[in-house]
Amino acid sequence: MFENAPVNPPDAIFGLMELFQADTSDSKVNLTTGVYKDEAGQIPLMKAVADAEKILVQDTSGRSYLPIDGQPDYCNKAGNLVLGPVAESVHWQTSQTPGGTGALRVGAELLKNAVGIDTIWMSNPTWANHPKIFARANYNVQQYDYLDQRGVALDFAAMMGSLANAKSGQAILLHAACHNPTGVDLETDQWNELLKFVADRGLVPFFDFAYQGFGKGLDQDAQPIRNYLASGNREAIICNSFSKNFGLYGERVGGLTIVSPSEDARTAMQSQIKTTIRTMYSNPPTHGCAIVSTILGDDTLRASWETELTEMRERISGLRKSFVDTMKQFAPDHDFDFVMKQNGMFSYSGLSKPQAEKLRNDHSIYILNSGRINIAGINASTCEQVCKAIASVL
Ligand SMILES: Cc1ncc(COP(=O)(O)O)c(C=O)c1O
Repeated sequence: MFENAPVNPPDAIFGLMELFQADTSDSKVNLTTGVYKDEAGQIPLMKAVADAEKILVQDTSGRSYLPIDGQPDYCNKAGNLVLGPVAESVHWQTSQTPGGTGALRVGAELLKNAVGIDTIWMSNPTWANHPKIFARANYNVQQYDYLDQRGVALDFAAMMGSLANAKSGQAILLHAACHNPTGVDLETDQWNELLKFVADRGLVPFFDFAYQGFGKGLDQDAQPIRNYLASGNREAIICNSFSKNFGLYGERVGGLTIVSPSEDARTAMQSQIKTTIRTMYSNPPTHGCAIVSTILGDDTLRASWETELTEMRERISGLRKSFVDTMKQFAPDHDFDFVMKQNGMFSYSGLSKPQAEKLRNDHSIYILNSGRINIAGINASTCEQVCKAIASVL
């Protein structure tokens, strides 16, 4: 029977990673995967994480199962980091999930099976896994327009135009900050207008918050979510990830926060989450959450983490500026200023698939075929090489 299974195409990003690994060029540069790299081209182990590990290694207790919805102290801290002061005034509960992807998958199952929502709107483009996750959970996936003609900035009017077709009782997926793959975020007044529309139309917002602290700051990046709740709205789903902002990619640590209109609804939703998780992976792993709650629960470690996260964010902004300045030098007739307006690790560069392929084949520089560049994968020594190669394929 197994020979009846069709071969699926490889995942676009992980497939390119394999090509990169097989490339024998000494000067190859990988700007595909969404990981932060330091000046030496390495994924750094944050100092606060290393210090927390030293504390945790002394814990010689047995490694029992965690509760189905995760370690309670971790869940409480993760939810407070996302919700901030608004946590005081809404009914919420956070569940520990294996990364942001786990939160999205569990949240998708929950809304479909417990609430009966069967349609979700998401931006075109969005993170390639989004439509797949929701399609696997049997959703009807609808897309709303997002980018302008050139494909490098927001077309808010087009976005709102396509959302006019959304109906009450459907869900909408929103990147709270650092939109992946484009880096293009909404301005505050655009967020206000969009979120008022979401509330008036009776849509359920499903916030994907994978990059808290990578845009403008830990609190600033959470503003769309917090403002939505502070203006009296009482239902929301938030999926957060600590893969990026703690550099804990492989530890699979994230959270699913549900804001409910009453204590009874919160209890019912949590019981549904437990059934969903129990039948998918039973309960989450112990280690990543212990690192995060150790750091968030200790003033010194937390300060160290926030300082390092700020340095990472500021370094990415600096890299954006260097990229724009260097492109001016090698391709003075092309405007790349839009890169400075985008947020987070990614930039939609406006490069086409043939240009991305040429970069890969002729220069061993790997970006996604969509033109997405991981700006955080560039460093001072590769910036010139990358910009020169891009100029040559324009
Ligand atoms: C927009 C978005 N959501 C969710 C995720 C998933 O995060 P995690 O690696 O924690 O599963 C990512 C990861 O790249 C992402 O870019």
